[in-house]
Amino acid sequence: MKESKNIISMNKICKSFPVEMGGQQQVLFDLTFDIKAGEFVSIMGPSGSGKSTCMNIIGALDTPTSGTYKLYNKDVTNLTPDELAIIRNEYIGFVFQNFNLLPKRSVLDNIMLPLMYRGLPMDERIQHARAMLKRVGLEKFETYLPTQLSGGMKQRVAIARALAGNPKVILADEPTGALDSKMGNEILDFFNKLNKDMGITIIMITHEFDIAKYSNRLIHIRDGRINYDGKIPKDEKGL
Ligand SMILES: Nc1ncnc2c1ncn2[C@@H]1O[C@H](COP(=O)(O)OP(=O)(O)O)[C@@H](O)[C@H]1O
Ligand SMILES: [Mg+2]
Repeated sequence: MKESKNIISMNKICKSFPVEMGGQQQVLFDLTFDIKAGEFVSIMGPSGSGKSTCMNIIGALDTPTSGTYKLYNKDVTNLTPDELAIIRNEYIGFVFQNFNLLPKRSVLDNIMLPLMYRGLPMDERIQHARAMLKRVGLEKFETYLPTQLSGGMKQRVAIARALAGNPKVILADEPTGALDSKMGNEILDFFNKLNKDMGITIIMITHEFDIAKYSNRLIHIRDGRINYDGKIPKDEKGL
């Protein structure tokens, strides 16, 4: 049988957190959706709706309270933290709102980080990191420190770092949240290019419809529940 092209399969995912006074607060309710290889999907919703919690589960940073999650047909619902780390390293590249670059390490060192556990010789790591830097158009900046770069450039370095691990999926949590709209648009255009040219699956978390519009599919979450999943609507009325 032909292998299913669903690379992400979430089935009735629930997540609760313990609360200080005792008991639990449920944050995600029965999230069910599939994502196919090569999609560019936005997960959108207001602040506090559960987007980051959902992203943490997709990215194997956290596990659900109930439901099942399959990544590349592998059940990753109940793995140990060590097993989750292996999955992350193999499949996922992360991009965060605040870049999460090491401030005292050069741009090139930052990009080499995901390669640390791959047993590659140093010169191959350097070559590969340089190739990633070139891909984001920053080859002249390899010796710079992140603090010497603009926000948009920092985010491009973070994208190069995410790409260095050869991820199947890029997970970006509010990737333009710390950028002005011009730099933000550059990053979104770049995601589009990565998606089209390299076929990388992109899942982007945002609370803004104008950002989500850059993707091809919108999953809208409200109060931890999906209330829309489909093509990008004309406007955000009704979401
Ligand atoms: N680790 C945690 N412990 C307890 N509550 C959490 C934790 N992470 C998130 N929450 C709660 O879950 C809800 C959704 O948070 P989050 O997923 O960060 O939303 P969003 O990213 O959409 O703003 C919030 O009420 C938040 O306080
Ligand atoms: Mg969030």
